[in-house]
Amino acid sequence: MAQAHWGCCPWLVLLCALGAWGHPKSVDLKAEDVRNCLISPPYLPVTVVNTTAQLTALRQQMHIQNLFAYIIPETDAHMSEYIGTRDKRRAWMTGFTGSAGTAVVTMGKAGLWTDSRYWTQAERQMDCNWELHKEVDTASIVVWLLTEVPAGKRVGFDPFLFSIGMFFPFLHLSTATRVTQPLW
Ligand SMILES: *[C@@H]1O[C@H](CO)[C@@H](O)[C@H](O)[C@H]1NC(C)=O
Repeated sequence: MAQAHWGCCPWLVLLCALGAWGHPKSVDLKAEDVRNCLISPPYLPVTVVNTTAQLTALRQQMHIQNLFAYIIPETDAHMSEYIGTRDKRRAWMTGFTGSAGTAVVTMGKAGLWTDSRYWTQAERQMDCNWELHKEVDTASIVVWLLTEVPAGKRVGFDPFLFSIGMFFPFLHLSTATRVTQPLW
């Protein structure tokens, strides 16, 4: 597996990326046909995608590549020719087709981070394999990873899906490892 060290400090790009989240509008989840993972069996709208097979396939690859977590980032509007492909990667994994959001999968958990514009859509499309994190800053993903990933374990990602600014917060993960041959 190829590995690389990342050392750039793209402050301005990061700030621009964080500023692009805009002003979310509030939504009333109770009025929508959304999943309910708190009851048994869970209630899943017909719009939900069963992602069990995708997660199993990803975790098999993570195991082979000795990764405890894998990050599937949101699309980058500045690299437009790849937006469709990237969208399909995250959408294929999560079921969630919204244009903003980052998925992170560990060996035991799966989470999607997105802003309030997409909370209802995510609750209508994701099955109960996924935790919805109603946060938008990459720092919250890093904090979650630091909690979930045991010391010494490795976090993987496809570097071609990250702008330098998107990657910067992940420098806090000392174990970050580049993976150039993910599932797709
Ligand atoms: C999802 O698919 C798996 C097989 O891939 C199946 O075992 C499971 O029961 C399905 N879950 C739901 C909620 O339909």
